[in-house]
Amino acid sequence: MVTSLSCSSSRPYVAFTGPKKALLPLPHCTADIRGMQSPVIAPGRAASGRVILVGAGPGAPDLLTVRAVRALAVATVVVHDGLIDPAVLDFAPGARRVDVSKRRDRHTLPQDAINALLVAEARAGHTVIRLKGGDPFIFGRGGEEVDACVAAGVAVEVVPGVSAALGAAAGALMPLTHRDHASSVSFVAGTCQNLVEQDWAGLAGKGRTLVIYMGVTNANAIADKLIADGLAPDCPCAVLERGTLPGARVVRTLLADLGGAVVAHSVVSPALLVIGDVTRGVAAAAVTEGLICAC
Ligand SMILES: C[S@@+](CC[C@H](N)C(=O)[O-])C[C@H]1O[C@@H](n2cnc3c(N)ncnc32)[C@H](O)[C@@H]1O
Repeated sequence: MVTSLSCSSSRPYVAFTGPKKALLPLPHCTADIRGMQSPVIAPGRAASGRVILVGAGPGAPDLLTVRAVRALAVATVVVHDGLIDPAVLDFAPGARRVDVSKRRDRHTLPQDAINALLVAEARAGHTVIRLKGGDPFIFGRGGEEVDACVAAGVAVEVVPGVSAALGAAAGALMPLTHRDHASSVSFVAGTCQNLVEQDWAGLAGKGRTLVIYMGVTNANAIADKLIADGLAPDCPCAVLERGTLPGARVVRTLLADLGGAVVAHSVVSPALLVIGDVTRGVAAAAVTEGLICAC
């Protein structure tokens, strides 16, 4: 079963807001929010350089946090990954942009080189925003960048972001925990080369939700592994593709059919695999059937 989350006006729906490009301007914030200030994100040019890791959220630019917007506003350099919406970069109008996802050979800059770049720019006196998709500390190598800054004696701060699992699940009206269906949720990376050696025992099954990042190309092997680990082949699961972005899709299927469903529906990255009973909740099913549009 699959549906596109983009909505047509002829279809019955309960709620639909659609991905928005227009963002709430900060002046509309309450005085209390305006008054909040993180210790490092102070207006004006810093006496010495610093690095701020900022989570850009799962895709939709209006899922940026107020603190992220504030950090971008003081940036003099923005070092960013690919697939960051230009509307997000526009919050740093005065900053030099460095896209570390694009080089002539189309490979991402090696992590060591990114670490060195952050340290060098900060040492040169810049306020460096390291802008990353989702949350910097969820499969984002943010820990390595913080370590590099600390080791180099460079001031560093982290601004959390809405991780893809949270954004995509919300868009699909799929609660990752639910009193009736799941009291725990786990995030794992599906890219591990030695998948069969990974110990996922206990992460999926009755009362548990498993969210797999970067697992689309390995979906078949992942399903085989989970079934070999004892999960029922008819365990419900879903693929959340392009969560919070235009053209978002939800594919619901059973574990034994997961790999086939990914191929049949031509699912491409970015996408998440969600394993567990929450994927067949009433609201999630309604989204899939096109009764509710959610983005
Ligand atoms: C390197 S990880 C980065 C995760 C990020 N730090 C976060 O917190 O969401 C990239 C993976 O996140 C997932 N992802 C990112 N954006 C997504 C989106 N809009 N919809 C579904 N999955 C997404 C995909 O599994 C993708 O392969």
